[in-house]
This record gives sequence, structure tokens and C-alpha cells, in this order.
Amino acid sequence: MARKLIAGNWKMNEPRHGAAALAGALAERARAAGPLGWDPLVCPPATLLGAVGAALQGSAVALGGQDCHPAQSGAHTGDVSAEMLADAGCRYVIVGHSERRANHGESDAQVRAKAAAARRAGLIAIVCLGESEAERDSGETLAVVERQLAGSLPPGADAANTVVAYAPIWAIGTGRTPTIQQVAEVHAHLRRRLGAAGEGTRLLYGGSVKPSNAAEILALDNVDGALVGGASLDPDDFWAICRSLFQSSL
Ligand code: 13P
Repeated sequence: MARKLIAGNWKMNEPRHGAAALAGALAERARAAGPLGWDPLVCPPATLLGAVGAALQGSAVALGGQDCHPAQSGAHTGDVSAEMLADAGCRYVIVGHSERRANHGESDAQVRAKAAAARRAGLIAIVCLGESEAERDSGETLAVVERQLAGSLPPGADAANTVVAYAPIWAIGTGRTPTIQQVAEVHAHLRRRLGAAGEGTRLLYGGSVKPSNAAEILALDNVDGALVGGASLDPDDFWAICRSLFQSSL
């Protein structure tokens, strides 16, 4: 069975000293826990990768970026390449988060190019998808995520280089979550659509994951971890979500 992944997406938060303290607190907990049978990950803003990477040294907590440009280098002011993230110590990169799809007009084709760049650089791409509230209300959820999945995964995507995160837009930062049946339905659909090539690909759920709801979500068959936003900024909350993995396996 795939190792579960609990990923913290810090988004555009934390000053340098706060980021180092947060990463240090998580590294300390991971070291104290001994060998882990699951994977913790934090994705800080690009400017903090060095400080956070240093604070994570010697711990099992991995480092990831929040986005990458499809190209390896060149005239792309303000962008960061997958190779640069790898060079900064990253093992993962989030691509196609709904905030980037909305704020930067990223299409499935662009997300696919970014996921391909991640693979080229030896990173694991966390490919995000999820429906809007209007799409949920009009019964289009499965069609939307299926289309996003087909459009956003590059050729050669497999369990070793790709993670898929279902993050319904209306559940992000709102405190609202789909029902457990809705999460199960979408994840089962994604699992079927991934087919044989995607066997073992980890499917994360993201959207208002908290210590109070994590165990129930993480206990679902096709949920292989979580992509955590707000709650990942508090080391106690993030670690409590991680600890839910053990409750969920009881
Ligand atoms: P919240 O956990 O703050 O809802 O954010 C979810 C998300 O966007 C994960 O990337």
C-alpha cells in the first residue's frame, strides 16, 4: 500500500523567522517520533525554501514548492523552475492549485506542462483539481474532475512521480467540507479513471482539513493523505492531523 502523504501548503504566509520556527517544531516532532511509515511534507513560499530546508535538516519532513514554470530556465521574470526547486532541496512541487488556476488563469494544458517539468527535474508533482460550488450544485463534479485529471496529467505520470490532490474550490479556506460520502465518491471515481497506469498513485484530499475531521477523511479507502492549508501553519494542528493517520487505521 502507498505510504500516506500529509502535505502542508503554507501559501503566501509566514515571515522568515516564523517559517523557521514552524519547520523546526515539525522537524522536532518527526525526529521524536522515530522512523515514520508515512511522509510529512511542507511547501513554503519560494523565498523561504532555504530557511525551511535548513530547519528540516536531519528530519523526515520533506520540502516542496508551491508552483513551477514549465521551462528549465530563461526569460521568465518572477518565475521559478522545477530544476531550481530541486536545487533548493525540494522533492515535491504543487501544480495546478485552484488559487493558481483562478488567479493566474492556468489551464489544464499549462498544469500538465508544469507536471512534466517537475518530472524532468526529478520532483514529484502534486497535481490539484476540484470543482467550484456552482459545478457541485449542478451535478457536474465527477465530469469536472475527470476532465481536469485527463487534461492535467502528462504522459508517463505514475505513482512514483505524481500525486493527485482533490481540493474542491468551495471547501478551501471556508471551514466547509464535502460529506464523507462525497469525498469517497470523487476519490473512487479518480481511482477508476487513473486506471492501471495510475495504480498506487496517491490521492490526497484538500479543503478545510482540521484535526477534528482528519481521521474520518483519512480512513477512507481511496484517500492516501491530505493537502492542508490553514491548519498547516500551526505545528500542533498539523501534527494532530498527521497523528490522525494512526486513529484512522484503528
Ligand atoms: P485550507 O486547508 O486552508 O482549506 O486550504 C486547502 C488548500 O488549499 C490546500 O492546498
